[in-house]
Amino acid sequence: MNHVQLSDGKVKPARYLKWFGVFSSIGMFIINFIGFLDTQTNSAEGCGPDWPLCNGQVLPSLDNTHVIIEFMHRFLVGFFAIIAVIFVVWALAKYRHFREVRIFSWLAVGFIVIQSALGALAVVFVNPPEVLALHLGFGLLAMGGVGLLTIFLFQYDRHVCGENAGLFYRNQPLPKTLLHLIRWTWVYMFGAIYLGSDVAFHNAGTACSGWPLCNGEVFPGFSGNVGLVFSHRLVAVGFAFLSLWLLISLRRMKEERRDLYAGSQTLFVMIILQILSGAWVVLSHLNLNADLLHVSLLMILFMVLSYLTLQTFPFHNVSMQSKSVRAKKPVATHR
Ligand code: HEM
Repeated sequence: MNHVQLSDGKVKPARYLKWFGVFSSIGMFIINFIGFLDTQTNSAEGCGPDWPLCNGQVLPSLDNTHVIIEFMHRFLVGFFAIIAVIFVVWALAKYRHFREVRIFSWLAVGFIVIQSALGALAVVFVNPPEVLALHLGFGLLAMGGVGLLTIFLFQYDRHVCGENAGLFYRNQPLPKTLLHLIRWTWVYMFGAIYLGSDVAFHNAGTACSGWPLCNGEVFPGFSGNVGLVFSHRLVAVGFAFLSLWLLISLRRMKEERRDLYAGSQTLFVMIILQILSGAWVVLSHLNLNADLLHVSLLMILFMVLSYLTLQTFPFHNVSMQSKSVRAKKPVATHR
């Protein structure tokens, strides 16, 4: 069997770090969720123009929903951003010789910083909807960095324990067409997310009433807000077809690439749920719960497809004798 030669017997398993990663990933999910709630309920002004104080106080009086949401938003973003930084620094300190660890760490920290800068700019300048629409995408990329780093640590840990986990499958053959299909589907998803955000920031959500028809028409055209919403729906249908194509193609490889096949099954289910939640958003005239479900499902969908994409990159074995590790010798033993 084409086993990944990972360890030379001196590898330290990520026993505690990986669970800290789970905590940090949940934190990133919460940050994105509360940020979304903040925008949807127009609570960004809940603390007034004060920062870091809220309405001039360390602990504001919590008698108003907007104040509660904005205060929680600030607190949770600060708290979980610190947790994410601790996680990344810890991972880099232990495993920086893995390319994945370096890439995901910088992705996470980089987008947390960009996201914070965008948030600060939004207070000073009135950003156009096209810029605001980038916000959700950046938040997802930061969550993706933390989440994929956690997944990698779990895979690594299982491999160190001699199991055929994710790292092993990454070195199993995958036809080039499938490899490109998965990666381009990820890019396509990002376009779909941007378009959805653009709909929201143009306040165009109700431009197409009814579902599946838009204002009673099969083809309402591409102009104005109706066109924007219609494009969003069209892109969603395209996404569903792409995921079906992936699922059918990967069925033929379900033994050799169980990771990708299981992932494509989950992806297909998630896209169907995403579309149904979109229908609920429309039919409920932008009900807050429907909106929150639409974006929460999206975060899971994003992670599933990002995991699939990660699995298309072969795992490059890093000799534990690499420079960075040699400098730190002796390395601890197995558990
Ligand atoms: C699988 C594909 C889909 C993805 C990835 C997706 C993604 C998104 C995203 C990222 C947003 C912006 C959320 C926000 O910031 O407020 C959004 C908004 C929206 N989506 Fe989707 N969506 C999908 C499918 C659909 C479908 C099929 C419908 C309609 C049937 C739909 C209806 C809407 C509406 C109406 C909004 C605007 C909500 C608002 O203004 O608050 N979505 N979508």
